Amino acid sequence: MAWHREGRADFCLRQLRRWCAYGQSVVVFRLSGILAVGLVMAGMGWCSGDPPEGLFWAPRVLPPAPVPPGNPQSEAKIQLGKQLYFEKRLSFDNTVSCASCHDPKAGWADPRQFSEGVDHAKGGRNAPTVLNSAHYQFQFWDGRAGSLEKQALGPIQNPVEMKMTMPLALDRLQGIPGYVKAFQEVFGGAPSDETVAKAIAAFERTVISRNSPFDRYLAGDTAAMSPAAVRGMKLFNGKAPCSPCHTGPSFTDSKFHNLGIGAGATEPDVGRFKVTNNPQDYGAFKTPTLRSVALTAPYLHDGSERTLEAVVEFYNRGGNRNPNLAPLMLPLRLTQSEKSALVAFLEALTGEDLGITEPALPE
Ligand code: HEC
Ligand code: HEC
Repeated sequence: MAWHREGRADFCLRQLRRWCAYGQSVVVFRLSGILAVGLVMAGMGWCSGDPPEGLFWAPRVLPPAPVPPGNPQSEAKIQLGKQLYFEKRLSFDNTVSCASCHDPKAGWADPRQFSEGVDHAKGGRNAPTVLNSAHYQFQFWDGRAGSLEKQALGPIQNPVEMKMTMPLALDRLQGIPGYVKAFQEVFGGAPSDETVAKAIAAFERTVISRNSPFDRYLAGDTAAMSPAAVRGMKLFNGKAPCSPCHTGPSFTDSKFHNLGIGAGATEPDVGRFKVTNNPQDYGAFKTPTLRSVALTAPYLHDGSERTLEAVVEFYNRGGNRNPNLAPLMLPLRLTQSEKSALVAFLEALTGEDLGITEPALPE
């Protein structure tokens, strides 16, 4: 433990700084400041023993994805949504589908830093994984969509993605008898904005990262995670500390934080600020899920880091300085073996292969 290597006072001081930063970020301790936090810690006797585990977060397995009352799951609807997900005819020149940028073979994400849409157009953000997006409270890096239903029609109409208009997309579907029949059977009507979105969302709710070594470990199979990964889990929840933000069964607090990524650019991506206009959200992005993260390189909203090792190194440095940096972003002083342990833990979050491949598409 860090405890044994560095001096006791040094360790306590660092923990104190971290707690204060954490307090600031949750507002609760904001006014009470260093003194109160120090007193609480002393009261807990924290500085007289090993740091406790599970400080911020109790590891939990993933519950079933929430399903909104207006869009109940059914096998036929999921099948239709799956076809639409792989359907290139929903793009202007029939070349791009959802799967082009959220590829099941690449952890349902895009191995390219920036995805290419119709006409090789590129946006400025890395395509996140669709795995577990059903568990998000907000969609997109800046959280501008709330539900999967609200999200689904965005890419079809986005000029740098599928470059369609919805009337044109619906016309295309109307011209394919297999789809007309399927929409009739599932929704009792012709394809519409609403039903296209509902079918795609229903399919996405089945794209879940589950039964990872971490889940099996939690279920009692202590051999499921390597000793390094177990050590990484403790670091993740202690010295590192990652779990204040990557918390809960999906490893996200559903909040937005500024880590300083791309902050030095001439025209930085303002992130959440564009949605809320709140100066506190300047350069803040959604905490992404970490489930199956080992499959979804490159990382961060701009795809600027290619490996998990590099991401851990980035956190070890304390992120990138800028006026709005999240208070929790402090240098971590991790040893090489602690960094590897963290990576081993992140790798233990990889879920089982869902066996979902491109279905036959209607004629
Ligand atoms: C050309 C590439 C491209 C295509 C095609 C595409 N996406 Fe995306 N997708 C992205 C990018 C890039 C983002 C992140 C954009 C942002 O955050 O501003 C994204 C974000 C998302 C998210 C939010 C995930 C999260 O973690 O917040 C979901 C869900 C999603 N896409 C589903 C779809 C679906 C469904 C389709 C097909 C209808 C689709 N995408 C088509 C590139 C693409
Ligand atoms: C202050 C909250 C916060 C803390 C603490 C934090 N993260 Fe993050 N994490 C985020 C946010 C926000 C992003 C996305 C930032 C961006 O792209 O601008 C992110 C992104 C990531 C990514 C990239 C995932 C992807 O799909 O691109 C990984 C991996 C990651 N964090 C792991 C960690 C680890 C390991 C730790 C602890 C050393 C940690 N995080 C601590 C909030 C946090």
